[in-house]
Formats: sequence, C-alpha cells, structure tokens
Amino acid sequence: CGIVGATGLNQVLPSLLKGLEKLEYRGYDSAGVYVNGGDAGDFLVKEKGRVSMLEAATKGKNITGTAGIAHTRWATHGGVSVENAHPHMSEDGRFYLVHNGVIENYDELRDTYLQGVKLQSETDTEVAVQLIDKFSKEDGVSTFDALRKMISLLDDNSAYGFLLMDRETPTLMYAAKKKSPLLIGVSDQGNVVTSDAAAMLDVTQDFIELMDGEVAIVDQNQVRLFDAQGQKLTRDAFHLDINASETDKGVYPYYMLKEIDEQVIVAHTLSQHYFDDEANIQNIDASIIEAIQSSDRLYIVAAGTSYHAGLVGKRYFEQWTGIPTEVHISSEFAYDQPLLSQKPFFIFLSQSGETADSREVLDNVVKQGYPSLTIANVMNSTLTREADFALPLLAGPEIAVASTKAYTAQIIVEAILAHAVGQSGLDLKNELAKVAVEMQVIIDQKESFKDIAEQALQNRRSAFYIGRGLDAAVAVEAALKLKEISYVQTEGFAAGELKHGTISLIEENTPVLALLTQSKTAGLVRGEIAQVAARGANTIVIASKSLVKTGDAYIIPDVNELLMPLLAVIPAQLIAYYATLDRHLDVDRPRNLAKSVTVQ
Ligand code: G6P
Repeated sequence: CGIVGATGLNQVLPSLLKGLEKLEYRGYDSAGVYVNGGDAGDFLVKEKGRVSMLEAATKGKNITGTAGIAHTRWATHGGVSVENAHPHMSEDGRFYLVHNGVIENYDELRDTYLQGVKLQSETDTEVAVQLIDKFSKEDGVSTFDALRKMISLLDDNSAYGFLLMDRETPTLMYAAKKKSPLLIGVSDQGNVVTSDAAAMLDVTQDFIELMDGEVAIVDQNQVRLFDAQGQKLTRDAFHLDINASETDKGVYPYYMLKEIDEQVIVAHTLSQHYFDDEANIQNIDASIIEAIQSSDRLYIVAAGTSYHAGLVGKRYFEQWTGIPTEVHISSEFAYDQPLLSQKPFFIFLSQSGETADSREVLDNVVKQGYPSLTIANVMNSTLTREADFALPLLAGPEIAVASTKAYTAQIIVEAILAHAVGQSGLDLKNELAKVAVEMQVIIDQKESFKDIAEQALQNRRSAFYIGRGLDAAVAVEAALKLKEISYVQTEGFAAGELKHGTISLIEENTPVLALLTQSKTAGLVRGEIAQVAARGANTIVIASKSLVKTGDAYIIPDVNELLMPLLAVIPAQLIAYYATLDRHLDVDRPRNLAKSVTVQ
C-alpha cells in the first residue's frame, strides 16, 4: 500500500493524484483521496481499480483545498471494494485516516471498544479511526493524545504507517509509524508526508525520516516530532539526490522495458562505484570484508526475485571465498530457522529494503546478535538501516512490479563482494565491462524476442524453463518473470529433475525454453531437450555462442561462464515482456501483486 499527504499546497489534489500514481507499484486494487476544502466542505472519493479510475472519479466534483491525504491499497484485511478502500472516516465525519501495515488485534479492539459503532468496512484501519474518534470525545483529550492512545492499544506485532486528518484542525496532518516507512517532506510550498520519497519529488527533495514509535504533527510551515513517550525531538532533513524525471517513463511504453534497457547503465555505474581506476575495490568498508572473512557460513536471505539473485550469488561466495553459503526464502526462515553454524554472517538482498518477510528475519538475527549486511536498491530503507552494514545497488528507481534491473544489479554486487572478500582469479572490472557491452547487444536485438514469445507462447497456458547449475538458478527467475506478468503458468526446473516426475506434463506443443550457457552440463541438457522434444514439446533453446547448435532459437554472446546469468536472464525478461504485450495485459502492473510487500 502507499500513502501520500500534503498541506499548504496551492491546490492539493493534483499533487496527491500524481503521488499515488508513483506509488501504484505498492499495490493498486483500489485507491482513495480526502481533501479538506474548508468552506467548500470535505471531499472523500474512493474507487476500485487503478489510480486513473480514482482520478476520473474526482473529475467534475470541483474539489478544491490545500490539504489532504490519499492512499493506494493492496488488500490484506477485507476484500477489494470501495468501502474497504482508504481513507477511512470516523462515524461523524470528523477524522480521516490512511494506513499501511496490519493491526493484528483489531478484532479484539473492535469488540472491546466499539460496541454500538456501525462500521462501514471490514478493515483494521477503520477500527483505528473509530477508536481515535471515540477517545477524542473524552474530556481534555486532544487528537494527538487520541492517536497515541489508539497506538498504545495495538498488539506488538502490529505494523503501521498512519496519516490522519481532523477537520477541526484543517491544515494539520498527524503521522505515526512502526515497521512501515513514512517520510516527511519539507518545502517552501508546503509540507508532505509519504511512504516513499519518489512519490513526492515534484514537491520536494528534502525529507525527514520518521522512526518507529514516533508521531509527527505536520502543518503548512512547521513539523513537530515526538518520540514514543510524547517528548518533543528534532531531526534534520536529508536531501535526496534524485529528481522526478528519473521516475518517469520517458519514451518507453512501459517501465519494464525502460528498466530492462537500463541494465547496461547499471552495470557501468556499479563498476565505477565499486572499482577504482586500477581495478581495486573501493566503497566496500574493510569491516564488511573482515566480518565476512571471519565467518564460517553465509546465509543469504531474500524474497521473490531477490531470492533468485541469491541463488546465483551463492556460487560466487562459495567459489571465490571458500565460505559455504546457504540461500533462504525469508518468509520460511523467519518461522523455521535452520540450525546455524558457529559463526554465521547474514546477507539480506532486497530491491526495496522494506519487504516485511525479510525484516522479520533481520529482527531475529539482530536479537540473536549475529552480524548482517543488507544489499538494497533503496538506501535509507528499513533493511539497510537495521543491518550492521549496507551496500547500494545503484539501479535507480525500479517501478515495474516485475523486477529486472534490481536482479542483475544484485548479482553484480554479490560478484564484486565475493571478489573483494576472496580470490576470483578474474579481472572482474574488465569482465563486467564485457558483460555490459554484451547486454547492450542483446537489448539491441529485442525484436527477436517478440517473435519467439509469439511463436512459442501464443494461446499457451503453461510453459517450462529448464537448465542446469547456474542456468537452473536463472530458470526459476525466468519462469517467475513470465508467469507473474503474462499469467502463463511457468515452472523453472533443474533440467535433470524433469525425468523424475514433471516430464509427464509435457504434451504436444508444450513450450520448453532451455537455457544453455554452462559447458560442464551442456551435453546433459541437450539430452534433456531431446527427451522433451521426443514427447512433443516445442523446445526453444537459448544457448551461449560457444555451445550453440543449428536450430537454436537465440545465441547469447559469450562472457565468463560464471557471469552468464547476467546475460541469460535478459532474453527471459524480454520474452516475458513481449508475451504479456501480445496478451494485451498491463506489463507494469500485473493483477494481485505489489512491488513492495510490507506485510508478512
Ligand atoms: C515483491 C515483488 C517482487 C520482489 C519481492 C521482494 O513480491 O513483487 O518483485 O522480488 O517482493 O522484494 P524486495 O524489495 O525485497 O527485493
């Protein structure tokens, strides 16, 4: 879910709508906005679907006002409906609240405190706003006190970013956060609150971070911060060095295509950042390297595409540092922690730095006193702040829900880190430069993947990606890309495992896309391709130049074999992109998904 709010702007509605559009990556099943119009009254508009639907619904309503709050939702408690969309209003129309996160004990709170209150929705958030309303009616209780009292009743596991408005103080916004990010943006034009700075860059690049347990009262030209005990505190704003245009699509029809193209620049940027002119490592603190060197086992923990990047990175750590490395899914690790080694070191991989499943693991790791590093795209995010060390992915804002450039950036940073800690025996800077050149070659041939996608996947309901070793690691990411945006049910499979069961799913024309970049197992994978072809599969082989055979669908340029995943994934990204276009689906915003999942 995503939150924006602003006060003191000339007209607040356009900024809020624009901000919501930028936040759609955090969920987009419904959206809503509240504007305090002063004498013109209160405007509350909510719609199911995309922000564009909300925008259409605000047309013709003459919404004017200088302060308001808005929200885009990814349903957790309560289905997708206008009633369940935020902002939620108190019974008498005095308070309006938007919320990211989950209140775990909301049922209990409702039954204890809200007997007789007629709730309009099934959400935990409405319970929160009705509680605020109830407490504020008690003698001498200010809105600030009522908000804090409500928060004090939330159970420990609850997570929240709250943004509240009270029509009796029309220029004020009340913000509170725990585990769910909230930033306060300050500017001469007015002040804003947002769950992601990218949403409000048109208004300001200066932000104050709100920390867990804190509450802020934000007025047009003043920001007051309070700690969990209600004591005043001060904190300087930080300046964010990205501008609004970096988060625009520019000439591209979809962010995903823009971000696929940007992988070349990201590879260059990372190389320049982490290597000096003599190809020595820079910008990795010696203490990170020492901490890893003195550990006896690495635990890479991540979710989704980041987890897949971990499967590739494991090879670099094991082969170049000699330290055994395990890769874990964060939602599993969090509640089923494996037996750890004597001296574990944790590496969290994340695009957003906010994934709740990974945060849960980091929390546990910190409590157990183990050292940790977060490699993330969004610096200053929760995972980067709460780990002992952090390294940036420098991929620039990734907006499309399907992750592309963050994946390749993660693999590159893992390679550089493993090289820094151990012995890769490679001139890695030079090898990465070659990778960037060849990435561009593949990207320049993007049209060929349009043909492959249409020929192989049109009217198909299922598909397979297969490969061995590093190709098996890429195959699961390739399959995720295809299934998450085109809805073609795709499995990524270790090619050798097919014969142990899954091969029974192969029918006439089932598309089987094979990745073939690893010389050691190429012969075996050729055999597996023949096995499925003999059973009627439509085999599409994507092979590296040195392993290619007549009839293969696409040739990937050769680079060092260990770095081949950085190239092999690009055809898969482009095939997913074109297959989805061919189905007339929204590439950037697949159904049911959110880019950053801040609930467990
Ligand atoms: C969501 C996104 C995925 C992403 C995963 C982990 O599920 O849809 O694309 O890989 O979260 O996100 P993170 O920000 O931690 O990399």
